[in-house]
Amino acid sequence: MSETRLDDQHAAHLEGLEHAYARLLEAHGYEGVLLYSGAPRHFFGDDQQASFATFAHFLHWVPLAGIEHSWLLIRPGQRPLLRFHAPVDFWHLTPSLPQAAWTRRFTLEASDETAPPPFPQGRLAIVGDVDAGTAERLGAALNPLALCQALDELRVRKSAYEIACLREANRLALAGHEAARGAFDAGAAELDIQLAYLKASRQRESQVPYQNIVGLNEHAGVLHYQHYDIQPAVRRHSLLLDAGRRVAGYASDITRTWAGRDADPQFAALIEGVERFQQRLIAELRPGVDYVALHAQMHLELGRLLSEQALIECSPEAAVESGITRAFCPHGLGHSLGLQVHDVAGRRDARGEPLPAPERDPALRLTRPLEAGMVITMEPGLYIIPMLLEPLRDQPAGRHIDWPGVTRLAPHGGIRIEDDIAIGHGGPINLTRDNATDSL
Ligand code: GLY
Ligand code: MN
Ligand code: MN
Repeated sequence: MSETRLDDQHAAHLEGLEHAYARLLEAHGYEGVLLYSGAPRHFFGDDQQASFATFAHFLHWVPLAGIEHSWLLIRPGQRPLLRFHAPVDFWHLTPSLPQAAWTRRFTLEASDETAPPPFPQGRLAIVGDVDAGTAERLGAALNPLALCQALDELRVRKSAYEIACLREANRLALAGHEAARGAFDAGAAELDIQLAYLKASRQRESQVPYQNIVGLNEHAGVLHYQHYDIQPAVRRHSLLLDAGRRVAGYASDITRTWAGRDADPQFAALIEGVERFQQRLIAELRPGVDYVALHAQMHLELGRLLSEQALIECSPEAAVESGITRAFCPHGLGHSLGLQVHDVAGRRDARGEPLPAPERDPALRLTRPLEAGMVITMEPGLYIIPMLLEPLRDQPAGRHIDWPGVTRLAPHGGIRIEDDIAIGHGGPINLTRDNATDSL
C-alpha cells in the first residue's frame, strides 16, 4: 500500500477517534481524558529494566510502539496534546519529535519530565498505569470502569487503517515463518530457529507482540512453551512455531506446524486434516456468527478427524460429549486481535454486559457475536498432552482411544494452525493468506 493511502486511512482513523472520544466523554461526564503510555519497570534492586509494551489505548492514537513516560490529553473540540518524553541524557539517544503526517492532527510538546502536563480545571479521567497519588493530586478519576470499558469497546471493530497495519504485520511475520521453516529443515536448534525468525521478520526479541513459541517434538504439545533449546534435537519429528510481529503497535499472531524428517507418516496427514477443517471454519465467518457455536463446531471437526484417522473408535459426537476432543485440544478456537494479541472485550457484549465462556470451555477468549470490522484469530489444534489424555485411560471414554497410536504420535507434541481474519461485510478476509485485497 502507498504511504499516502495509509496516511489518508490513518487520518480517517484519528478523525473517527476524535468523534468517538468526544461522544463518550460527554456521555460519561468528563471534560477530558489523560492517557498515559506507561513506562518500563526496573528489576527489583537493580538498575536494569524489563522489556515494555506501551499501553494500548495510547497506541490507538499514537502509532509509536515502545513510547514511554508520555502523556496524551484528549479534550473534545481541541487538538489532542501529546507530551512526548524526550529527556536530554548523554547515556541514551534523545528521541526526536515525530514528524509523520499523523502528527498534524496533534499538538506536540517535547518534555524531559515524566510528570503529566498541566491541564485546565474540569472533570478529568486518567487512564493507564498511573498511581493513585498522581490521580489524586490532579483531582482526576483514575481508570473509571465504565469509561474504560467504553474505550475498550472502541477497539473491537477495526478501522481500515488498523486492518492495513494488521495485514502488514502478517506479511512481515510470514517472512519470519518461511525462514524458520528453512532453519528447521536444516536441523537447527530451537534457539537458532527463533533467531532465523527474528532476522527475517526484522525485529528484536523485545519487540515481539508475545513470546514466540518455538516447539520441537514434544515441546509442540506444550501450549505456551517458553524456552529455546540451544542444542539441536537428535530426532526431528515436528516444529510448531507460533510467532508474530508488530506494525505501529498492531500484532499478528500466526502458527504453523511442520512435519520433520523423522515424523510418523500419519503426522503429516493430521496436519493436513487440521488445516482443512480450519479453512472450512474460516469460510463460515461473517457478521452475526455465534463464535461460541463455531468453537463447538471445531470440536466436532476434530472428532471427525480423529475418527477418520482411527485414533478414536466412536462417533465425532460421542467424542465431543465424552470430553475426548477437549483432551486433544484444551484451548479456544481463537480470540480478538489488535493492539494486544489477546485483544480487549472478547467476553463482553457491545453494551458491556459480561458474556462468560461456557463452563466446558473456560479458555475460550471470544464469546461475542462477530461484527464487520472485527479481527480475530482462527487456531484449532490437536495435541498429545499426556497430562490431559492419561486420566482418560481409566474412564469409559478411554476405551474408544487408540492408545498405541497416541504413544506413537506423542514425540510429535501437537499441531496448531493459526490465521488472522478480518470480518468483512460479505465474509472473511484472511490477512495471513490473502495479502492483496484490502476492503471490508
Ligand atoms: N500466540 C498466542 C495465541 O495464539 O493465542
Ligand atoms: Mn492466537
Ligand atoms: Mn498464536
